Amino acid sequence: MAEQSKRRLELKPVERRTFLRYSLIGSVGAGLGGFGLASLGFLWPRPGDELAGEVDLGDAMELIEEIEEERAPIRIPEGGISILMWEPSLEAAMRNYGDDHAVVNDDIGLMAVNSQSCPHLGCGVPWCQTSQWFECPCHGSRYNRYGEWTGGPAPRGLDRYVSFIDDGRFVVNLSEELTGPARTANALEQSPEGPSCVDA
Ligand code: FES
Repeated sequence: MAEQSKRRLELKPVERRTFLRYSLIGSVGAGLGGFGLASLGFLWPRPGDELAGEVDLGDAMELIEEIEEERAPIRIPEGGISILMWEPSLEAAMRNYGDDHAVVNDDIGLMAVNSQSCPHLGCGVPWCQTSQWFECPCHGSRYNRYGEWTGGPAPRGLDRYVSFIDDGRFVVNLSEELTGPARTANALEQSPEGPSCVDA
C-alpha cells in the first residue's frame, strides 16, 4: 500500500510536465490556426472587390432606358456600385460632376456611386424605391438620387468613381474613387418622393 502511494506521488511531476507540454503545443497550434484563418479572411475577396480598374458596364443608352423604366439605379454587386442618372442640364450638377462623370448628351449623364460602403461607418446603402433616395439601414443616413447627403450622421455624400463614355459604352474606373460631395452640395434639390424605407 505504502509502495503504491509512493509510485502515485512519483508519477505526478511527469503528468504535469506532459500536460504543460500539450498545453503549449495546443496554444501555439490554436494561435497559428487563428493567424492562418485571419490571413485567409484578409485574402478572400469581399463582395464588391471582384471588379477593378476600367470596367465596361454596357451600352449607355440601354442603361439609361433600364434606369428610367425601373425608376431605380442599377446595382452592380461585383463592383460594390450603383449606376445612376444625372442631368448635365442642371447648372449645379454640371459644375459638381461634369469633370469626372460620364456625359451622354446635353440632358443625361451616368454616374457610379459606391453604395456598398456608407461614408459614416461602412454599411451597405440600399436604394429605397418609395422615397427614391438611398437610405442606410444602420444609423439612418440618407442620400438623394445623386447620392448627395440629405440627413443622418454621415459626414458627406456617397463616394463615387470616375466614369466616361467610350464609343457609346459606359466605362467606370474602379481604381479612381472620388470622395463623396460635401454635405452642403445639393445640386439635385430632391425631396423624398414617398415613405422612407428605414423608418418603416
Ligand atoms: S453606417 Fe450608414 S448611417 Fe451609419
